[in-house]
Amino acid sequence: STGGSDDAKRRAGEAAADAVDAGMVIGLGTGSTTAYAIEALGEAVDNGLDIVGVPTSFGARQRAIDCGIDLRGLDEVDGIDLAIDGADQLVRETGVCLKGGGAAHSREKLVASAAAELHLVVDDTKLTDTLDQPVPLEVLPDAHTVVADAVRSLEGEPTLRAAANKDGPVVTDNGNLVCDADFGRLDDPALLAKRLSAIPGVVEHGLFVDYTTAVSVGRSDDVSTTTY
Ligand code: A5P
Repeated sequence: STGGSDDAKRRAGEAAADAVDAGMVIGLGTGSTTAYAIEALGEAVDNGLDIVGVPTSFGARQRAIDCGIDLRGLDEVDGIDLAIDGADQLVRETGVCLKGGGAAHSREKLVASAAAELHLVVDDTKLTDTLDQPVPLEVLPDAHTVVADAVRSLEGEPTLRAAANKDGPVVTDNGNLVCDADFGRLDDPALLAKRLSAIPGVVEHGLFVDYTTAVSVGRSDDVSTTTY
């Protein structure tokens, strides 16, 4: 969770929560911006809204439990009506984005792929004309050196993500590692996405190319929503 003000994140999160109707199955994303959407949904549930949430991470699950939202696993629901999630960097024109700053992108993508709609919530510091941040790769532990070699052969610079408060790597909710693969500017994200998906040992990468159906961008004093 980097970037913009809490007000900007809250406005974005609340805008997505506003799109939720009674009876929906909602994908609950990860991160500090989606947390505001989960909070707003919790209040709506307190006021009688009937929804079911499918969390994308341990953190999202905990937050939703705290807010009193009914939860199910992805294998217990018959599709998802709407997934709400954050992003780390986003091209507004296309909705293409990078995710995985919180190491949750594999389940986030799984939930997004099961959802009829993906509504992203970001503050305006996440917007860019061209993606240029490293692409997070969730990697099977045994595969991390092989994946690093594969990233180098695509002319990327791999870094195994280190934990902030542990002598060792970040371990995902799924027990895997994260490689941040720096390719500089991503001039063809769709092609790179295909190449990364083809590397054995990569569980999932953080490039979301064809998922976004709406983006709410929060600023400290307003919010605006684009649909695709
Ligand atoms: C988790 O892996 C990411 O994809 C998050 O969705 C992303 O980091 C957004 O988090 P913030 O809203 O806290 O920036």
